[in-house]
Amino acid sequence: MIKTPLKSRAKRGLALAHDEFFNDLRKREYNRLDNDGQVYLDYTGGNLYAESQLRHHFELLREHTFGNPHSANPSSKFSTRLIKNARRKIIEFFNADDYYCVFTANASAALKIVGESYPFERGGRFLLFSDNHNSVNGIREYCNSAGGFHEYVPMNFNDLSVSKEVLLDKLNDTTGENKLFAFPAQSNMSGVKHDLNWIKEAKERGWDVLLDAAAFVPTSSLDLSVYTPDFVSISFYKIFGYPTGLGCLLVRKSAFYKLQKKWFAGGTVSLASAKASYHFLTENHERFEDGTVSYLDIPALSIGLDYINSIGMGRINERVGSLIDYLYNRLEGLTHSNGEKQLTVLGNRNQGNTGGTMIMSFINPNGSKIRFEKIDSLAKEKGISTRSGCFCNPGLDETNNCLTTSELTAYFTSRTRGDYWDMIDFLQKMRGATRVSVGLATNKRDLDEFVNFVKSLQNRTIL
Ligand SMILES: Cc1ncc(COP(=O)(O)O)c(C=O)c1O
Repeated sequence: MIKTPLKSRAKRGLALAHDEFFNDLRKREYNRLDNDGQVYLDYTGGNLYAESQLRHHFELLREHTFGNPHSANPSSKFSTRLIKNARRKIIEFFNADDYYCVFTANASAALKIVGESYPFERGGRFLLFSDNHNSVNGIREYCNSAGGFHEYVPMNFNDLSVSKEVLLDKLNDTTGENKLFAFPAQSNMSGVKHDLNWIKEAKERGWDVLLDAAAFVPTSSLDLSVYTPDFVSISFYKIFGYPTGLGCLLVRKSAFYKLQKKWFAGGTVSLASAKASYHFLTENHERFEDGTVSYLDIPALSIGLDYINSIGMGRINERVGSLIDYLYNRLEGLTHSNGEKQLTVLGNRNQGNTGGTMIMSFINPNGSKIRFEKIDSLAKEKGISTRSGCFCNPGLDETNNCLTTSELTAYFTSRTRGDYWDMIDFLQKMRGATRVSVGLATNKRDLDEFVNFVKSLQNRTIL
């Protein structure tokens, strides 16, 4: 009896301290949002950079001479040192001593390396959650063209998570030599965090594991000494906003030789010959870094990581959790005057912190769903940036909107090209949702603006 009030008082105290800290951060580092009248609520799409990150990076560029790192001259050596430093910081950030850090253009490029290099074969397997980004879904094409087959693990409609029995049943089927299992640490659509213990369960049954951590790591700590997937994909702009165009693939050293690189390029070989058809690939991360890495931008990763470390991932995690609670509590009871709910939040809000992400669909007074693009354009008029559609995650959208395999097959086999809108017309079923996501620059005023926007739709029928 005594515990609960004490606990909630402590929680309130912590939230207040966070409020002060983050409001101050907003003034110092993200003032442009207020100067520009922007209500930015798409942090899962892309994080915002702090002004100090730009300042530090530009100082570095202004004060030093950077040469192409594939050489031994002083300017080249300087670039090499900073790249090495960034790689080390990334390894530290994820506690990933047992991993190589391969720089890529983004998470998709990291996933593509796994897709094209994994030894899929006749009878090989690719098992994946239906809650996956298209950049993971696309790996099935590599598997299928090698004569293997892929299989999806469905998500439960009610809480958008996976059923333990269904997943274990599929993992227990260990036929096939090379088997890859892929899932997102956190859904980019619903924000649901999937259980990282699936990594161990899958590995114990002989699966190699690809963890797509792109949507998880911006607001949660990933400790790769505790959870040990074979491959991990990451985009850095999602963690600290700047620069874009850089991500990484973390490859567990023990799984390094599992990936079979199909070609070689500058920077990936220790030796190659033109007259004799031989080459030796490098024996580390460089094997997968084709050509010149982004040597002017990679030093900005160290600056970004230092910035996040100075705030603390734990604090970011608690902050986005409390902001999402704040928003949910203000949205959940909103109704039209006839009592019809104004919106439905998809998934189960009681399953813990969803890392600052919430998806919803809006409802007219007569109970019909409002098309997501209408909400998008009305929000735009108020300077609010949300995101809508299926977020490159068709599997979860199909779950949310109860689309069946036969309906989808009927659509795809009826034409040779198409798009989202064409499919909606054909199926006469709603698709998509509205996603609101918060981050370290969000304040309560942003959320109040969004709630006021939703209230402004009360009693309106939007067709
Ligand atoms: C979970 C997840 N995986 C992969 C990606 C692809 O990231 P990128 O577009 O940076 O390659 C995203 C991007 O939204 C994502 O959220």
